[in-house]
Amino acid sequence: MVARAGPLVLAIETSCDETAVAVLRGRSGLLAAEVASQVAAHRPYGGIVPEVAARGHLPELPRLLDRVWARAGVAPPAVDAFAATTGPGLATSLLVGVAVAKGLAVGLGKPFFGVNHLEGHLLSPFFGTDEGPLPSVGLVVSGGHTLLVELRAPGDYRLLGRTRDDAAGEAFDKVGKMLGLPYPAGPEIERMARAGDPGRFALPRGLLGTPGCDFSFSGLKTAMRRLLPELRPGDIADACASFQEAVVEVLVMKTVRAALATGRSAVGASGGVSRNARLREALVAGCREAGLRLFLAEPALCTDNAVMIARVAVEKAAAGTGSDLAGDIDPNLGLDLFRIP
Ligand code: KG4
Ligand code: ZN
Repeated sequence: MVARAGPLVLAIETSCDETAVAVLRGRSGLLAAEVASQVAAHRPYGGIVPEVAARGHLPELPRLLDRVWARAGVAPPAVDAFAATTGPGLATSLLVGVAVAKGLAVGLGKPFFGVNHLEGHLLSPFFGTDEGPLPSVGLVVSGGHTLLVELRAPGDYRLLGRTRDDAAGEAFDKVGKMLGLPYPAGPEIERMARAGDPGRFALPRGLLGTPGCDFSFSGLKTAMRRLLPELRPGDIADACASFQEAVVEVLVMKTVRAALATGRSAVGASGGVSRNARLREALVAGCREAGLRLFLAEPALCTDNAVMIARVAVEKAAAGTGSDLAGDIDPNLGLDLFRIP
């Protein structure tokens, strides 16, 4: 049983195009969570425009803060610590959330914790499970990242592998753009794929036959581009299903292999792409077959959110990590990990 008591943390997430605020009591007492998506603002450009994203956070944050104070039923002085994502992400977007959270911390004389966005994703599959983050292998698949990480304990991670080119979500978005689907194309491809035959087109499974935990999606993207001139309008669903299956198969097989190679008996999956129902279903089947326990982040916690940032901040508060008011942002922040040689 996880204690419902603990520090009251307000966290802000503005690393990319989502503005998010959450208030969390201890490890699992979620009092309020708000997310405002900028998808509509970026759709005309077919991808995220950094300056548009940063400026979008500015008017949104005060609105979301007002809403979480009301929903959580707490006043700002009751908060024990403030937190914000300090990286990785878009520099100007990160600055907005960090500046606001630090301002609140300074104004109210409370500590500030800078949080690594990837650590947030890694802990999110365990949110609300009452089991805490178990030693496991974590798959993080989003628009910006595709990582396999060994989670030994909160704060103790080892990078096993990552994409050598595009992130899985980026591949979905780029292939969707080729097929004329709106941004972000991941959900659109999933929708189209439901009516398609995943075995119709033979597509490459990048690095599947190579040992190690790295990924590559550029060959798959090129194969899709080559396929384009041959496609008739009735073929789009089959193309989407075949593409989705190629991505899913590599993600699942590499994740299961990583868990077996590291001797971890649990797997966590998070990040925007882990909302994909076909990926979730294939992870369930792959983990069941390999005798692994699977923790899937709930859909609202797959995409960028502030609950996962607050969750990491609670862990930092529990570990007695000091306030980080003088800390900088780091758009290229890693997990301070080492790689298996
Ligand atoms: O985690 P996230 O919100 O932002 C990043 O940190 O990148 O992930 C967004 C990415 C986009 O590339 C989007 O196309 C993808 O996640 N995505 C999906 C699905 N839902 C979102 N990809 C495949 N299937 C989905 N259902
Ligand atoms: Zn993310």
